[in-house]
Amino acid sequence: MKNEDFRRAGHQFVDWIADYFENMEKYPVLSRLEPGDIKKMIPAVPPARGEAIEGIFRDFERVLLPGVSHWQHPGWFGYFPANNSPASVLGELLTAGLGAQCMVWQTSPAAAELEEVVLDWLRQMIGLPAGLSGVIQDTASTATLCALLSAREKATGFESNETGLRIPLTVYASDEVHSSVDKGVKIAGFGKKSFRRIPTDGRFALIPEKLEEALVRDGEAGFVPACVVATVGTTSSGAIDPLRPIGEICRKHGVWLHVDAAWAGTAALLPEKRWILDGVELADSFVFNPHKWMVTNFDCSAYFVRDPATLVRTFEIHPEYLKTGVDAKVKNYRDWGIQLGRRFRALKLWFVVRSYGVEGLQAMVREHLRLAALVRDWVEGDGRFELLAPVELGLVCFRLNDGRDEGALNELNLRLLERINAAGPVFLTHTTLRGKYTIRLVVGQRTTEERHVRGAWDVVTAAAADVLKA
Ligand SMILES: Cc1ncc(COP(=O)(O)O)c(C=O)c1O
Repeated sequence: MKNEDFRRAGHQFVDWIADYFENMEKYPVLSRLEPGDIKKMIPAVPPARGEAIEGIFRDFERVLLPGVSHWQHPGWFGYFPANNSPASVLGELLTAGLGAQCMVWQTSPAAAELEEVVLDWLRQMIGLPAGLSGVIQDTASTATLCALLSAREKATGFESNETGLRIPLTVYASDEVHSSVDKGVKIAGFGKKSFRRIPTDGRFALIPEKLEEALVRDGEAGFVPACVVATVGTTSSGAIDPLRPIGEICRKHGVWLHVDAAWAGTAALLPEKRWILDGVELADSFVFNPHKWMVTNFDCSAYFVRDPATLVRTFEIHPEYLKTGVDAKVKNYRDWGIQLGRRFRALKLWFVVRSYGVEGLQAMVREHLRLAALVRDWVEGDGRFELLAPVELGLVCFRLNDGRDEGALNELNLRLLERINAAGPVFLTHTTLRGKYTIRLVVGQRTTEERHVRGAWDVVTAAAADVLKA
């Protein structure tokens, strides 16, 4: 492709994205295709000769776009958000254009130093204690794996990096913890049987006394407790584990505390919500995802550690071909995680924070919380529905309950969710809480306004009337 063709197409693509943002509501939120529909439309063998970009783009619109679910749609209320913003897309465009591979300081000093500074901005923005050091990981799953590996090394005096894991280490988290911890426990070599699920209270938050009992019991039985993962904003219900008592127990028993605030961390931008992180100064590591709720397009996960030396000692490698003359003076982020090669992710974050300012981001989150509270009030005000978890932030968990037995209620609510999502303008997802089929509505899209939330509730109530009649 000639540079002049790139320039022309690039302008058109930016126009296309701007139109996409503007006209998002004309798309159904969720792709309507069946499995295999897309593969059928794409040749199984690669093209022998190069094609003009116009033709490739036409196929993007014709073949692929119908198979895209529109996460940036204001009617996206499913899972947790993965919102973006014009500023982050422009930052990402520059990252792609520069094509810098930022494994060590020398391979892009700006990337290394901007990452250090912008992560410290984030630390201040959500009220994390001074002295924590930050690094960008691709996802919270990776950050949590880094925490588990660091905890493993700390608990074994860095022996397991040398000899493999020889002593029976144990890991603890609430029975509401995200599946990324199950995955991390497997990959880090602890073994699934070493993972203790601690019971939760009526708000679905970990019960500290139960944690301590488990630590003591395991210690007496010859296990070595290595890591506790506390969650601020659980995936199913948004529960907030109480960090202070959990942290105090971890300190007392010499166990690593990792805090997973993948979604809810962004809420700590608001001074009135900082209580969710009360006690975070007792944590050894902490993760939250600007790529969930902080308008920074996927992927961008902010991982903070109290002692970078432990992280680096866990991951460092020193092959001759990676050595540079400035290694003693700089941060080489290749040793702060799993991957060697790294994208210039700090750039989009820098664009986002500067473009919105802290106040702009706070205003968006505050509005989301107001809208979620409206939904909570509507659920509470309609006798056909019940709330299934406290609404701490932007997630509302509810179901229809007309008094039939639990099995039939699960069936009824499954049908309700199918009916809601079949309508087109909204997308909600589900979970189970204590065995109850639960519909989740998360407000977190950048473009979601009160009219969208009201529209969503109209869809929910119309679908409810239908399934109750059937
Ligand atoms: C609480 C929690 N932790 C971790 C994750 C995993 O996030 P990621 O996709 O960045 O690995 C999620 C995803 O929704 C989550 O809700």
